[in-house]
Parts: sequence; C-alpha cells; structure tokens
Amino acid sequence: MKIGILTGGGDCPGLNAVIRAVVRKSIQNGHETIGIREGWRGILQNNFMPLDLDAISGILPRGGTILGTSRTNVYKEKDGEARVINNMKQAGIDCLVAIGGEDTLGVASKLFKAGVKVVGVPKTIDNDLNATDYTFGFDTAVNIATEAIDRLHTTAESHNRVMVVEVMGRHAGWIAVHAGIAGGADVILIPEKPFDLNEVCEIITKRHQRGKTFSIVVIAEGAKIKTEETVDKDGSLILSDVEVDAFGHVKLGGIGNVIAKEIEKRTGFETRATVLGYIQRGGSPTAFDRVLGTRLGVFAAELVHKGQWGYMAALRGKDIVAVKLEEAVGELKTVDMELYKVAETFFG
Ligand code: F6P
Repeated sequence: MKIGILTGGGDCPGLNAVIRAVVRKSIQNGHETIGIREGWRGILQNNFMPLDLDAISGILPRGGTILGTSRTNVYKEKDGEARVINNMKQAGIDCLVAIGGEDTLGVASKLFKAGVKVVGVPKTIDNDLNATDYTFGFDTAVNIATEAIDRLHTTAESHNRVMVVEVMGRHAGWIAVHAGIAGGADVILIPEKPFDLNEVCEIITKRHQRGKTFSIVVIAEGAKIKTEETVDKDGSLILSDVEVDAFGHVKLGGIGNVIAKEIEKRTGFETRATVLGYIQRGGSPTAFDRVLGTRLGVFAAELVHKGQWGYMAALRGKDIVAVKLEEAVGELKTVDMELYKVAETFFG
C-alpha cells in the first residue's frame, strides 16, 4: 500500500517521532510512505514530499514537524471531500495516517465515513483529547512551563512581586494544573472552574500577611472569571482579539496581563505578567513524548497493515490501544477536579 502521512493543527513536540515510527514500521511491513505537506491543505493542493528512510533520518529529537502543518478544514473548502478522494486517487495514495488534535481527527472521522481509509494518531500539547490518557507534546509543554515557573520564583522573591504566568491549553486547564503543581504555584486558575478575582486577591493577601513577600499565579489562557467579576465587557473570556480559525476557535491569549493589573490594583502588591505562548510548543520533545510518539506511531502503522480503518492509536493506562476516531472527537477531556483539589491544597 502507499500510505500518505500528514500532520494538522498546531505543531507539537513529538510529531517527528510519530512520523519516523510510522515510516519505519510501514516500510518493514512492506509498504511505501509519502508525506503530505501542511496538513489537509497538502492533499487539497497536491503538495507531497518523499518520505522514505532518508527523509526521516535524524528527526527524532527535532521539534515541529518536517511535513509542515496548517489549520485547513477540508469541510470549509469548496468540494473539499471530493477533492481529497480524487487527489488521493491521482497520487496513488491508498490510505492516510492523520496525526492531529480534535480538528484534524474530526476531519479524518468524516472522511472515513465517506469511504476514505484513514487511521489517526492523537496530538496536542493541551492534553484535551478524549479517549487517550495523555497526548504526546503535553509532557514537553508542562516541563517548559514548570521551568519557567521555577525561574519566575527567584525573580519574584527578589523583588517582592506577584507573578502571573499565562499558559496555553485552550478550553482545558491541564497544562496550568500540572505545571502549577510541579512549580509550586500559590493560585492556579483554569477554564473548568470560573474564578472570583476578589477571592484570588484574598488568598494572595493572606499569604503575604503570614510573612510571604511574593506569589505565583498560574492562569490558563482560557480561564474564565465569574460573570459578576467580568473585566471584559463581552463576557467571561478575556481575549486579545476575536479572530476565529477555520474550525471556529477564537484566538485566546491576554488574560494574564489583564488579571495582573487587577491584582495590583486590588491588593497593592506590585504584579507582573508573563505569557509563555509558543515557547511551550516549540523545541525538542522530552524523552516521555519521544517514547509515547514512537509507540503511537508504530501502533498506527500496525492498524494500517491490518486494515483497521476509522481507528486511532490511544494510550490507556500503560497500554496503546485502538479507539474509534469518532469516540476521540466527540467531547473535550477537561481537568479532573480531584487533581485540581490536590493543587488547591497548596493555594496561599
Ligand atoms: O491547541 C494547541 C494550541 O497551542 C493551544 O494551546 C492554543 O490556544 C492554540 O493552539 C494556538 O493556536 P495557533 O497556533 O493557531 O495560534
């Protein structure tokens, strides 16, 4: 079989580990692999690249994706579905391995229903994909955010400041909770639990009354403030702009700066904000993400070899298992409130 491989959505550390694993295992299984450039856009525009043993040599520790990526939505393009099917036929591509998050895999799931032979691999630093315990890229993002919090601790302490650290995660607070616990944050604010700003200020004030001279507040980019406390006239989310992508997601980012100003105003403590942004997504994957990506990639290649279409490789406990694509994209996996309670033990 000729297997087309694509990576879609935001890039993520570990993508190259998956690509390498799918190619290596598929070639061992007697198949041919071809790269599709820049996600679904590549198949719509016949943008392919060779993906043989030479092409994947040395890519395991590299961040990003050698295939490039985009947020192109096949179902927002004119005759998108028909063009995908036709272009696959023209290029002699028998099946696809789609590596992506809920958007990319959502398209894969629809294409499968339209008769395309497709297998998925779950990817996102946000860790918000259902049906898999962890996504690769998440561990790297958490480690980067934790290191940043450690660094912010020393400068916060030296200057007697409150530091607000904004992390990614879209509508889930996984990065915030994990990095917050690991970095010893004094307050963690996540989308799953709208917060009251006065309560946050009270926690910080009490902490300073018991002799602490600095505080660390970790806030997820999608955190929501309770409506009576809304500082943004448009609603609970504080947005830097209201642009949406092809999958209808608003661009988040900016809540950290707004909250920092409010904390300073209400508590009188000097407060600074740091937005970690794309630093969390760039660079080399951790060993955990390399291993997870490799295991998922090898498993996906086996699904292809067995002709198990419409499934994705997923981590359940310590095992990699096959899960239906539609199960993965139905609903977001949000933060476990038991875990948040653990984090709350250390607030203040
Ligand atoms: O889904 C991964 C992610 O990095 C989110 O955490 C973030 O909100 C979003 O992508 C940013 O998207 P873009 O790359 O389109 O700015």
